[in-house]
Amino acid sequence: MALSLGWRVFAPFPMSHCGVSLKAMRSSGLALSPWGRCPWRGTGSFSDPEMKAFLEENTEVTNRGSLTPEIQLRLLTPRCKFWWERADLWPHSNPYWAIYWPGGQALSRYLLDNPDVVRGKSVLDLGSGCGATAIAAKMSGASRILANDIDPIAGMAITLNCELNQLNPLPILTKNILDLEPDKWDLVVLGDMFYDEDLADGLYQWLKNCFWTHRTRVLIGDPGRPQFSGHSIQHQLRKVVEYSLPEPTRRENNGLTTSTVWDFQP
Ligand SMILES: C[S@@+](CC[C@H](N)C(=O)[O-])C[C@H]1O[C@@H](n2cnc3c(N)ncnc32)[C@H](O)[C@@H]1O
Repeated sequence: MALSLGWRVFAPFPMSHCGVSLKAMRSSGLALSPWGRCPWRGTGSFSDPEMKAFLEENTEVTNRGSLTPEIQLRLLTPRCKFWWERADLWPHSNPYWAIYWPGGQALSRYLLDNPDVVRGKSVLDLGSGCGATAIAAKMSGASRILANDIDPIAGMAITLNCELNQLNPLPILTKNILDLEPDKWDLVVLGDMFYDEDLADGLYQWLKNCFWTHRTRVLIGDPGRPQFSGHSIQHQLRKVVEYSLPEPTRRENNGLTTSTVWDFQP
């Protein structure tokens, strides 16, 4: 993907986006090692006043340029200082949570247009980032939601984004659950999580386990990243819907033009 905190190249895919060095994100698999200095881990509080102030100061509230104008998000946009700043001035690890990725956009659009898919269901949003897909699931009537992301700052961003959309804070877990036995969920959703080969392999095994242990339905949103289209998971997917991406999302994602929701059927 490519964030571009002004310094460009911010993503694990061929995108250039906001600029905090997504070069690192690309090679490391999206901060598989979250930030040592971060005080909150696990399911702790996501209301640290200093971090809240930092996020509020360095993001813009927007609902423009995505597939889901009904969801407001705090994102890194060209109106933010760090969009234009040098990457090494960003004081934290790569802010994947500050981008609304095309895979998540497609999933969220699909859940908002098809509330029956989630109504009354338990939903895990794996790699939740800004939390938009978890928020879409909540808006569509999911009974229980967990937003999981290994980046604790994503936890804070998700909490702020819930507030923006007049929702109570969603439960958040910042533990890496891919090494654990999956809990029982009716539905697992993953937006733009296949951007690194090792991560893709780990997800594939974990998702198979989820499906075979609990018969969990798995929906994957992806705009055609090579780590996804070249993965053996391709033989076990059914296309649900493909969306044409809005122009601003195309611009920020190096020419990707569509994003697809896939049903994983191992
Ligand atoms: C490309 S972003 C996608 C965010 C969001 N789903 C979207 O589509 O906008 C990938 C997210 O996955 C998170 N992530 C990476 N590895 C993870 C893991 N093993 N478990 C949970 N989250 C992970 C990253 O911190 C990042 O926020």
